[in-house]
This record gives sequence, C-alpha cells and structure tokens, in this order.
Amino acid sequence: MKPVSVGVIGLGTVGAGTVDVLRRNGEEISRRAGREIKVTRAAVRDLARSRDCNTAGISLTANPHEIVEDPEIDVVIELIGGCDVAFDLISAALDHGKHVVTANKALIATRGNEIFHQASSAGLVVAFEAAVAGGIPVIKVLREGLAGNRVERLVGILNGTCNFILSGMQDDRSDYAEVLLKAQANGYAEADPSVDVQGVDAAHKLTILASIAYGVHLDFKSVHVEGISDITQDDIIYARELGYRIKHLGIARRLPNGLDLRVHPCLVGDDHLLSSVSGVMNAIVVNGDAVGETLLYGAGAGAQPTASAVIADLVDVVRTLTSDPGNRVPHLAFQPAALAAPGIVPLSEIVCAHYLRLTVDDRPGVLADITRILGDYQVSIEAIRQQGSADALGNVPVVIVTHRALEANVAMAVLEIEALSTIARAATRIRLETLEISVDE
Ligand code: NDP
Ligand code: HSE
Repeated sequence: MKPVSVGVIGLGTVGAGTVDVLRRNGEEISRRAGREIKVTRAAVRDLARSRDCNTAGISLTANPHEIVEDPEIDVVIELIGGCDVAFDLISAALDHGKHVVTANKALIATRGNEIFHQASSAGLVVAFEAAVAGGIPVIKVLREGLAGNRVERLVGILNGTCNFILSGMQDDRSDYAEVLLKAQANGYAEADPSVDVQGVDAAHKLTILASIAYGVHLDFKSVHVEGISDITQDDIIYARELGYRIKHLGIARRLPNGLDLRVHPCLVGDDHLLSSVSGVMNAIVVNGDAVGETLLYGAGAGAQPTASAVIADLVDVVRTLTSDPGNRVPHLAFQPAALAAPGIVPLSEIVCAHYLRLTVDDRPGVLADITRILGDYQVSIEAIRQQGSADALGNVPVVIVTHRALEANVAMAVLEIEALSTIARAATRIRLETLEISVDE
C-alpha cells in the first residue's frame, strides 16, 4: 500500500521532535499504524535556519499553504502555534480533505467548536492529544478509557513551565526570572511566556479537558484564571513551614449547581501526590464515579514527550484512513449533538481554604483587628503566624491559613483588612485545596 504522506507545518521544538521520533521509531510506528508513514513536506518561517532534526527527503517551504493545498499530502500536522494563521491553515487543510493533527491548545480552546464542526461535516479528524499535558495521553484516557464514568473532579498540574519555575524556586531557591529563562531554553515555554506564567496556557488546557470530561462546548472564557507571577520566595518558605507546597493547578469540578472551572496557584499538602510532581512534569488526578481516583503523570512539555503525543494521534488517523474509516471517536468524546452549554458556578460561590500573607505594622491590636474582620465574614482561622521581626519600616509579615470559607466572604474580608491603616501593602491570597472530594457548596 502507498505510504501515508504527511506535511508538517512548523519545525520548532515540537515539529523537529516529531520528525526525529518518526525517523527513529518509523518502522515500529508503521507496524502499529498498518501503513508506512512519511513526512514528505514541511513549512518553516526561516528556510536558512538549521533544524534539530534530519530533514533529508523532506521538501521545505516558507509557504504553508502549499502543504495544505498539495493533493499528495494525506495528513497535515500543525505545529506553529498561535490562533489566526493556524486557524486559516487548519481550515484550509480540512477544505482540501485532509485530516489534521495539532498541538495547539490556544486554538482548540478558543476556536475548537468551529474547527470540529467543519471537520465533522467533512468526515475528517482533527486530533489534538499533544495540546494537553505534553506526553501524557490524557485526552485518550478521558475520551475512551474512562468513557463509562461520570467524572466528578479533575485536578491537574497542567503547565510544565509554571511547575518548572515553582519547583526551581522551591527546591533550589532559584530566582523566578532565572528559572523562567531556563524553561525557555529547554523549549518548554510558549513563544510568549506570559501565556504560561499568567495561567492562560493552563486555562486553555482545562477548557479542553472540561469539555471532554463533562460533555460541554469548549468555552475558554468561563475559566477563572490566575498565574504565578505574584508568588514570592517568602510565600514558598512560609507555605513549606506550614506543611504545604505551592502548585499551579487547573481544577474542574461538578457541583450540584454547575461546573467549577479555575486555574490558579494553590497550597497543596506535603502528603498529597501532586505536591511531589516537580520540574516540567505534569500530573492529573481524575475522579470518576466508577473508577474512583486515577493519577496520570508524565512530562508536560518538551520536544520528544510532545512528539510522542503528536505521533499517537498520527497513528490513530492513519488507522482510520486504512482500516476502519467509519468508526471514529467524537472529537470531544460526546456526540456533537449531545454537547451541552457549560453551566458555570461563579467563583464567588466556591468554598475553599486560603493562605493569606499580610504585611502589617508591628504594634499591639493589629492582629485583633484582622481576626475581628475575618470573624465578621465567617472566615475562621486554622493557623496564624508572625514571620520574623519587623523590618526598617516597622513592618512584619503575618501568615494566616483559614478554614474553608465562601470565596466572596474571603474576598470582602481581605478588602476590608487591606483598608486598615496598619496594613502596609496589598495582601497575597493563595487558595488552599485539601483535594478531597467535596460537593457541599
Ligand atoms: P516553536 O516556536 O519552537 O516552533 C514554531 C515553528 O513554527 C517554527 O519552526 C517556526 O518557523 C514555524 N512557524 C511559525 N509561523 C509560521 C508560519 N507562518 N509559516 C511557517 N512556519 C511557521 O514552537 P513549539 O514547537 O514550542 O510549539 C508549537 C505548538 O506546539 C504550539 O501550539 C505550542 O503551544 C504547542 N506545544 C508546545 C509544547 C512544547 O513543549 N514546546 C508542548 C505541547 C504543545 P521558524 O523555525 O523558521 O521560525
Ligand atoms: N508551554 C507549555 C507548558 C507547553 O509549559 O506546559 C506544553 O503544553
């Protein structure tokens, strides 16, 4: 049978990794797919730049439209990132009857509904395993392996760059900026790394996971997003002293009145599995009513782990081309007509414990004012510590860990505390998850 001809758009970190792994493991991959797979064309921006893969036998172009319009290409792999050009290319590839594989979570989270509609109408596949959690096959697990479950909760470390930075700050006391540079040099970060550190990348991934887990349309705007750029070395040390590590988490929960979808830094107990997930590794804990708790763990970014996921999709696509074209798993796990609108629970209604770091005047009565305000808003305190002695301005950090309380009440109490004349600057507020199943809100 004629080899399947693949066009790769983008030969950066993931594209070069994909070509490299396909060459190295080509024979076994073809035996799994049932057809020989050949990358025949690739598109890049700069034809003169050297590549981290062997491009022998691959015809290079700086015009990706040549690939999506080439009648000899069976499958297009989009690995350029971004939303506008990538959308046009994928849409054009589908118009030309080609299946698509992509690692582009920004695009799937924001325009996936349009893309899947176009693909399904044309009887084509757009596969996107690499878009979430790098090499971890979480899409396949949720879409197929856990298809019998009602997913109650999904909590994950979804951004390799954030985890790499927080781990570096925690384990080696590295400086935030220095460790971010290292993540960029390793190819983990997005072209614009603010997308990683501001939590947007993890929110793209959570949008995709929530859609597949709960059978709702992709709705990126419904996710509450916070990043890690305000986390200081002090927060990390104080959390450690209290028995926690700070992790950047994506949380999706099914509550009685809707879905709770959020991405933010979080204190996680030292004894929880997620607290020991370090460096670029990602992990996702899925709770299904039948399976119970399942942990998926692996490299969340980088050339070869992401290539692993891209190629798994490619093999799936080639199998459908070859052996079983009519039997396809729906893009978002649920049949398109059965997808619902996500009913989102407002963040203000979420019940959660909090870590608060306040900078206060070191004088009598200050703590009494703070605890009174928290009490007024029904926020009860689990632990309170004054950290060290006053600085030259007479200010001292005070760390408070609260019991679970209504988010709206905590937010109002913090505003009132910040307005006290004895408070030197804005409070740091980090949510604290015990990661037990609780749907009592
Ligand atoms: P890179 O920036 O390393 O590579 C992008 C590639 O696309 C480059 O080869 C670039 O060409 C090429 N390119 C960009 N624009 C065009 C264009 N208009 N026409 C032709 N070629 C173009 O990105 P990554 O490999 O890191 O990421 C690719 C995708 O994979 C993104 O969607 C990202 O979110 C996703 N992803 C990345 C992971 C990672 O660990 N890096 C992990 C999981 C997903 P040139 O080299 O000439 O500039
Ligand atoms: N920038 C992303 C991360 C790449 O750091 O997780 C993998 O999706």
